[in-house]
Parts: sequence; C-alpha cells; structure tokens
Amino acid sequence: MQIKSAKFVISNQNVANCPKTNIPEYAFIGRSNVGKSSLINMLTNQKNLAKTSSKPGKTQLINHFIINDNWNLVDLPGYGYAKVSRSQKNIFQKFITNYFKERKQLVSAFVLIDIRHSPLPIDIDFINWLAYNSISFSIIFTKCDKLKPNVIKSNIEKYKQKLMQDWEVLPNFFTTSSSKFIGRDEILDFIQKVNENLVKS
Ligand code: GTP
Ligand code: MG
Repeated sequence: MQIKSAKFVISNQNVANCPKTNIPEYAFIGRSNVGKSSLINMLTNQKNLAKTSSKPGKTQLINHFIINDNWNLVDLPGYGYAKVSRSQKNIFQKFITNYFKERKQLVSAFVLIDIRHSPLPIDIDFINWLAYNSISFSIIFTKCDKLKPNVIKSNIEKYKQKLMQDWEVLPNFFTTSSSKFIGRDEILDFIQKVNENLVKS
C-alpha cells in the first residue's frame, strides 16, 4: 500500500469521543517505550506525526490519524510504565481497555514486543486478555536493528513456544525496525488486504 496522506485527527482519553466516522481502524499497543509512536512514523513516512521520546510514558492519550482518507491508525499510551502514579495507571488501564472493548471500528490491533526481551508476563497477560475478548491482533517485534539475525530468530521462536502453551492458533508476526525501515511493506500490505476483504464482505 502506498501512503498518500497521513493526518492527525484527534487526541482524547475517552473512547466515546473518538471519531464517529465508520472507517476501518488499526491500533498500536504495547509496553511504554517499545516503539509504538516510532513505528507509526515509519509506516506513514513522517518524522513527527506521532510524538516519540527516549523516556517511557510519552504517549498519554488515544491518538487518531487518518491514512489515505479511508482508514484510521491509532497510537495508544503504553502499559507497564512504573513511574506514573497508581491512580494515573488505573485511569490509563481503564481507558485503554474501554477503547478495546467498545471501539466498534477497530478491525485489528498490533501488539508491539521489544525483540530483545524474553516473553514478559505483562505482555503475555495483555495478549491473553485480547484473545479472551475475541479482539483480533497481530504481534510486531520492534527494534530488530539491535540484534543479530540468529538471535532474532531464536527470540521469535521462544515467543511462539510461550504462546503455544495457551493457544493452538498463533497470531501473525511481523519483525520491524523503525530506524532501519524494516517491516514497513509487510505491515502496510497486511492492512491493505484486510481493508480489501472488508469491502468484499
Ligand atoms: P510511549 O509513548 O512512552 O508508550 O512509547 P512508545 O512505545 O511510543 O515508544 P517511542 O516510539 O516513543 O520510542 C521509544 C524509544 O525507542 C525512542 O528513543 C525511539 O527512538 C526508540 N526506538 C523506537 N523504535 C526503534 C527501533 O526500531 N530501533 C531502535 N534502535 N530504537 C527505536
Ligand atoms: Mg508513544
């Protein structure tokens, strides 16, 4: 898919205030600092469309971006950031889970996982929560520029083994680096195919 336009629409904390337009939507979620906002900039080929930071906790709202005037991409706050207060964390968790439970336009989520880590309980819990709630998702491994190909391969294998302990069917996996522009075409082609199938159905 070619990105002809990518525009910021709205930021908010409440799923009820998200755009009312009935176009397909894809959301990016994962631990703070995993690279969600950077990936959105890589996909849209823009440097600062989504705000990024080396410090975790940068994205704090539900951010909608409209792509090619016909689908939405959503940048969400990260989970598992220890430095926000407990009350703030609860607010985050609630509005994030509300977003996933209530957003009818959401076609599929992307759960971002830092390729350098072995499976972390917080990520596995979130993946299982999506699956139990029948929310369609793919997994995107980020920061692949930081590891050698053989380590990438074995870390992905470990992740698959971990998920197979709970699930018979594995999600789609993508391997990416936002700094090296790796994985861009694969993700955009996947979104294009899903969008085309929605039109047919
Ligand atoms: P929050 O909004 O805080 O939840 O973080 P986020 O998941 O949106 O992460 P963000 O995109 O802001 O990136 C966090 C840090 O990781 C920044 O310093 C990025 O430059 C860096 N980063 C993101 N993607 C990559 C990547 O593919 N490779 C490398 N080497 N660094 C990356
Ligand atoms: Mg962010």
